[in-house]
Amino acid sequence: MKRNHCLFALLICLLSGIQNNYAQSNNTIDTLQTKWWKEAIVYQIYPRSFKDSDGDGIGDLKGITSKLDYIKSLGVTAIWLNPIYSSPNDDNGYDISDYRNIMKDFGTMEDFDALLKGMHQRGIKFIMDLVVNHSSDEHAWFKEAKSSRNNPYREYYHWWNAEDGKPPYRYSLFDVNHDAWMYDSTTKSYFLHFFSRKQPDLNWENPALRKEIYAIMKFWADKGVDGYRLDAFGFAAKDTTWPRFPKGFEENFSLYYSMQGNLHGYLQEINKEVLSKYDVMSVAEGTGNTLEDAHNMVDANRHELNMAYPFEAVDIAKPEGYSLLHFKEVFSKWDSTFKDDGWLAVFLANHDQARMVTRFGNDSAPFRELSSRMLTTFIMTMRGTPYYYNGDELGMNNIKFDKIDDYRDVESLNMYKQVKDKGGDLQAFLNAQKISARDNSRTPFQWNSDANAGFTTGKPWLKVNPNYKTVNVVAEEKDSSSCLNYFKKIVKLRKDNLVLVYGTYTLLDKDNPQVYAYTRELNGEKILVLLNFSSKPAIANTNIDLTSSDLLIGNYTSANNTTALRPYEAVVYELK
Ligand code: GLC
Repeated sequence: MKRNHCLFALLICLLSGIQNNYAQSNNTIDTLQTKWWKEAIVYQIYPRSFKDSDGDGIGDLKGITSKLDYIKSLGVTAIWLNPIYSSPNDDNGYDISDYRNIMKDFGTMEDFDALLKGMHQRGIKFIMDLVVNHSSDEHAWFKEAKSSRNNPYREYYHWWNAEDGKPPYRYSLFDVNHDAWMYDSTTKSYFLHFFSRKQPDLNWENPALRKEIYAIMKFWADKGVDGYRLDAFGFAAKDTTWPRFPKGFEENFSLYYSMQGNLHGYLQEINKEVLSKYDVMSVAEGTGNTLEDAHNMVDANRHELNMAYPFEAVDIAKPEGYSLLHFKEVFSKWDSTFKDDGWLAVFLANHDQARMVTRFGNDSAPFRELSSRMLTTFIMTMRGTPYYYNGDELGMNNIKFDKIDDYRDVESLNMYKQVKDKGGDLQAFLNAQKISARDNSRTPFQWNSDANAGFTTGKPWLKVNPNYKTVNVVAEEKDSSSCLNYFKKIVKLRKDNLVLVYGTYTLLDKDNPQVYAYTRELNGEKILVLLNFSSKPAIANTNIDLTSSDLLIGNYTSANNTTALRPYEAVVYELK
């Protein structure tokens, strides 16, 4: 349904005081529970790699501001920016040393204010990354906390006194020994860090800490931010009786770390103290361990968060590949359990995943662009809010470094050390990293064919993908069939057709190993999406007669009006 039709229908419905009962669909306007963040198209920017304005080789806020017209031209309606707070950068900004300040590499608070103003002037909302499961060890709270056992900030973190022996083993994702307890000699105790040693976990049981966090959130909300992405928050509540976990628990550590204790209590308090007082949205990173956990975080009647960001689908792509049947099953399962309550983010990449075209498509020369546009079609036609990662609109793919020296990410560097220490197969490790390492998605954004892809006049902090000579904004803007122009078209299509936002999703041809086919339906309007996920021709067995349908968009330059699909072909029809 076109947006103005929808508003008109709403008006009629309100005026007549009756519930409009549309044919062929269970959805009525009031059951849709429309919200701006459901209709948003979120563009994720990795600030370190987007645009450098001062030649230090690191992207910055002024750089982003200088590109706001580009972002606006994409048609996206919101930006999620990875953390920009002061940070010693052990984990690229996910280790925050001052929550009310801007990282020096990125600029100043004035730069931030100008950026936010520029976004709002263009009708673009801003979603802020909120990293409050842990801080940096260089945060003033932690420096105080580790100065003495009696310090008032001591209870902002988790400690274990050495005279009580070794603490029960906790797994750390980034620690070089995977040990989440780090010994501190000043106070002869261990502190907890689920991520790197420079990311001590905050103690959410302490009301004083929680109060500080709410004040920080209000500080940014008062500046006008439009939403928060809660980083790793599922881990924030811990069982602080520190029970021993069974041997090997780390294989499935999420079962022991996620959604523990009073997590929902904390989320409800965040909602009551901050979220409910501002016009802001909230999205959780991760969803706990079950669909029920995910619902418990985001169903509107619980007054916690707005939107879940599930990882199950992106986790199925392994260096050796994935099965489309599995992919379809996962997305369909999440959709069906969120049919009536809650809301989901839809994405195939972010700063923690490698490039979507390499993992889910095919980045070999004949298929990179086609499969990238096909995946874009998927993201933009699914039910849920699309989160689209910067550079994917150009069809950027993994850089696939050959040497460990090229990597900058604490995760890859520490994993390499672990494999080395154990005498493991370093070559096999490096090969797998070519597909899965996070730095693949963090290489500088490709603006043009000048040196360093126009990202910086200095030395880029991470190497630029050599394909920037042809894969870049300037070249793609000129090419009507480019990934970039396709992205703009499909964004517009989604914005013009609320059926793509709110319409019910129905999977067709479930057992087809090559084709993902589904319909979206709302108030009598029906859209069919056919996606060939393979490099071979394929037939979509939908039993739908396409003769009187309209092709809304397709990723090949020539039209196709059959259910026989070319390699990586994507087509979207309006069914009549
Ligand atoms: C989240 C972030 C990731 C970071 C980690 C620790 O998973 O997305 O980049 O390393 O939290 O903050």
